[in-house]
Amino acid sequence: MSIRRRDFLKVTAATGAAASFGFPHIWIKNADLARAAGGEIKVGVLYSLTGTTAIIETSLNQACLMAIEEINASGGINGMKLTPVVEDPASDPATFAQKARKLVLGDKCVSVFGSYTSASRKAVLPVFEKYNNLYWYPTLYEGRECSLDVIYTGAVPNQQQQDFVPWLLKNFGKKFYLIGSNYIYPKEENNVCKILLKRLGGEVVGEEYVPLGHSEFSSVIQKFKDTQPNVIFSTVVGDSVVALHRQYKAAGLDPAKMPMASLTTSEEEIAAMGGEFAVGHFTSAPYFMSYDSPENHKFVEAFQKKYGKDKVTNFVSEPAYFQVYLFKQAVEKLGGKNLTPPEIRKAAWGQEFKAPQGLVKIDPENSHTYLWPKIGEAQSNGQFKIIEQVKQWVEPKPYWAYEGQVCTPTGMKMTKS
Ligand code: ACM
Repeated sequence: MSIRRRDFLKVTAATGAAASFGFPHIWIKNADLARAAGGEIKVGVLYSLTGTTAIIETSLNQACLMAIEEINASGGINGMKLTPVVEDPASDPATFAQKARKLVLGDKCVSVFGSYTSASRKAVLPVFEKYNNLYWYPTLYEGRECSLDVIYTGAVPNQQQQDFVPWLLKNFGKKFYLIGSNYIYPKEENNVCKILLKRLGGEVVGEEYVPLGHSEFSSVIQKFKDTQPNVIFSTVVGDSVVALHRQYKAAGLDPAKMPMASLTTSEEEIAAMGGEFAVGHFTSAPYFMSYDSPENHKFVEAFQKKYGKDKVTNFVSEPAYFQVYLFKQAVEKLGGKNLTPPEIRKAAWGQEFKAPQGLVKIDPENSHTYLWPKIGEAQSNGQFKIIEQVKQWVEPKPYWAYEGQVCTPTGMKMTKS
């Protein structure tokens, strides 16, 4: 189900009113500051460089900074340079919230690009909603949220699972074991998977959640052996992905018979574990580094030139990169006037950009992004062979699996009991 325009307009009106009575002075000051500082536009860069999701989030920080550098090198935005204010929230949701507050209130950034886990996005959300600032979130996530103060450029479940789950059932069988890290994203994503499996005649033979940063999978792997699933559906995140794959192989399991099908394993984790541990497993995502497009070749070449020829790009670093260009286009549309987060948000709606994965667009109804889902099979060289891809971009439907729910400024609401 997509969000109905009428409900979204109601939300907009409510938030607009709150802004008028609440904090308009902050944004007038911001616009003045941008001009007074000689045309500088301050943006926050909030990705973890330390802690349990540092492997993946470092790549987001790098892709974001590369886009900022490219934009500045080509003259900035309406003659103004982007000044990134970089913070390391150390993979810790409480630190995310504290740093977000600093970027919004202390540095007076007009937007912040940030975060990988949904736990950290949930932690910063109250800051962006309270101060009516704008958070650009590049990561695939579970949906069931459409805050007016977030632009979502990563995939939601209908853009990762809709084709993937039926494909897995058809090619490997109906018995799924669901393994995830223990927080909101894997649990919600697995709820969607269970709804799909029920519709398609699939079966869940096990469901388990391990703590973030978990690195000891022997008891989990024993359960794989005991229950003999056809598919291990993985939403394990961060450094744990490396441990899971290594221990799976060490236990003698065979991807040809019991593949891991992941929404979260990218070239980045594979580079950390070694391609031999990932070969034969599958990932569904809108972007793979091996995708053949002129925009992607340019992106990969620039990334490796800047950060090293062995560096990889991945399905989260790509949106972390292109969303800065969407921000640029939104600010350009404002023509140097009204440089406030609410105005930037309005100008961002409907923006299109030729990204490495294909042409993307911010949906003006729900602030999520039209994307190009693909299925990749990991190869021993650490790359994915793309074996399925959509012919048309796929509309984002953050409430796809949940009939009767709509978004509001405070989260989802039931429209029927
Ligand atoms: C995630 O937590 N959205 C990967």
